[in-house]
Amino acid sequence: MFDLNIYLADGSRWIETALDRLVPPAFTRPDSLHAAMRHSLFAGGKRLRPILCAAAAEACGAPRDAALLPAAAIECLHTYTLIHDDLPCMDDDDLRRGLPTCHKVYGEATALLAGDALQALAFELAARTPVHALDIVRELAAAAGSTGVVGGQVEDMLGEHLPPDESRLRFIQQHKTGDLIVCACRMGVLAAAGPAPALEAATRYASAIGEAFQIADDILNATATAEQLGKAVGTDAAREKTTALSVHGMEGAKRRLQELTGEGLAALSGFPGGTDPLAALARHVASRKN
Ligand code: IPE
Ligand code: IPE
Ligand code: MG
Ligand code: MG
Repeated sequence: MFDLNIYLADGSRWIETALDRLVPPAFTRPDSLHAAMRHSLFAGGKRLRPILCAAAAEACGAPRDAALLPAAAIECLHTYTLIHDDLPCMDDDDLRRGLPTCHKVYGEATALLAGDALQALAFELAARTPVHALDIVRELAAAAGSTGVVGGQVEDMLGEHLPPDESRLRFIQQHKTGDLIVCACRMGVLAAAGPAPALEAATRYASAIGEAFQIADDILNATATAEQLGKAVGTDAAREKTTALSVHGMEGAKRRLQELTGEGLAALSGFPGGTDPLAALARHVASRKN
């Protein structure tokens, strides 16, 4: 029987071993920059995006190593967004992945540059994918840019201290969070040379679980502890952010989580290979505790 805990632990080890090999060692000049990049990258983290990338490749019948480079790329890109998100000019947070944030340890300038460098490294790694590298780089660029995660971050900030608005919430969920999750799954299919219907299935699956992931994040921000999450809690309400809770309330947000899990599971029939990991990941995203 498929065991998600084993799959997650094994997937984390797989991507962390690869990242350790692919990211310049901390003693590479300038030492402080590489140490800062590694501080945030190896602080922990659930590694959900690289694990989804691998699971999408497997759902096309390929070994997960086919997706190793895009999986490493998406984790570097995601980590850069976290470093910048925590800066004083954005969410101004002190704790991330259970450790002091990058700028708290290395200063704002180095943290900003560590984020920049991780983003550049993400594109270098994506470009080295043996199959469909150009398409993979294009997907990553679109997900990372002004109509992707950066656009989502802008609306997240603009949405502070404004009345709850469903259209803004959808935009934020889709772009701040969903786009990198969709990109992870689509890059997995591309790296596995999967068929066109699998690419569509990846989009449908990941759009649903991407939204679910952000709803769960909003719920945890209001209900979990900092020890549990490795980051500050209660901050969304304090900053009057536009969240699933401010728009739908707790019950509405939980209902939407259930619907989205169903949508994610329904999309799996479009993959040619085994989808046990993707199915278990869809359920896990909605019920996660950290
Ligand atoms: C946090 O992402 C930022 C959001 C998009 C909600 P994760 O919850 O995946 O963070 P890590 O990678 O596990 O630290
Ligand atoms: C972070 O979103 C998302 C990105 C960095 C793109 P949040 O600000 O909502 O997430 P946390 O709570 O800091 O992880
Ligand atoms: Mg933020
Ligand atoms: Mg934040």
